[in-house]
Amino acid sequence: MPKDSPSPLIELRNVQKHIGAQQILRGLDLSILHGESLGIIGGSGTGKSVTLKLIMGLMSVTSGSIKVDGVEITTLNERQLGPHRRKIGMLFQDGALFDSLSLEENVAFPLREAGERDHRKIAAAVQEVLEDVGLADHKEKLPPALSGGMRKRAALARAVITKPQCILYDEPTAGLDPIVSDSIDHLIRRTQRRYGCTAVFVTHDMKSLRTVADRVVYLRDGVIYFSGTPAELFTSTDPVIHQFVTGESGETS
Ligand SMILES: Nc1ncnc2c1ncn2[C@@H]1O[C@H](COP(=O)(O)OP(=O)(O)OP(=O)(O)O)[C@@H](O)[C@H]1O
Ligand SMILES: [Mg+2]
Repeated sequence: MPKDSPSPLIELRNVQKHIGAQQILRGLDLSILHGESLGIIGGSGTGKSVTLKLIMGLMSVTSGSIKVDGVEITTLNERQLGPHRRKIGMLFQDGALFDSLSLEENVAFPLREAGERDHRKIAAAVQEVLEDVGLADHKEKLPPALSGGMRKRAALARAVITKPQCILYDEPTAGLDPIVSDSIDHLIRRTQRRYGCTAVFVTHDMKSLRTVADRVVYLRDGVIYFSGTPAELFTSTDPVIHQFVTGESGETS
């Protein structure tokens, strides 16, 4: 590899994942480069969320290898996974905020988990990320009192507060209105550029891909069917890709 070409931060090799009788991943190979913004697309139930959970070490592979920053994570135990998980922030598909904690406490949570005890440092870091996501005036609110878009922003603030090397976003704009979606997309892009972190995001939103992704992979039948830039994806003449991108079911009514 040439000296200045980016090296992979995350490498999945021949990853297979069975859940019960179902084979979800069938030998997935995927390299995610330092600092890139990678979009993952694919039909519902094809294993996109499972792939993110495998990278986080929240699920274990059936076989194959996952290296993060050069460390093989598939053989680590729960205790050893702690430092690994701190390198990676994750925005879960449902936000996964704690309903009984205020917005401020939710966002501070990963810093406390990482062992930070200095109250002033924590308050300053929380203020900074909440300003970034436009929620600084809502610190005291509990998650049920926030709108869907605000909860996504809050979850984003919580995912970035420890300044992880990499952030995994599971459908960050699903269910949001187009304007809020666009602001979340830009927020993800800004976060990636500002902290130089690697961004991996699952989406069904083709507009998001154009705004956020340097590269896109299309997961199909448990393997990567396509990898390329958003422009290459949208101009592909492959009928399978074309159908997915245009969202035509082929049904008539
Ligand atoms: N904890 C689990 N227990 C049993 N089956 C699971 C579990 N998690 C995922 N699966 C199954 O694995 C398959 C892939 O699920 P996954 O959540 O990764 O899909 P996805 O690609 O993220 O879909 P969507 O776009 O709908 O979010 C599905 O068939 C799902 O039912
Ligand atoms: Mg999913």
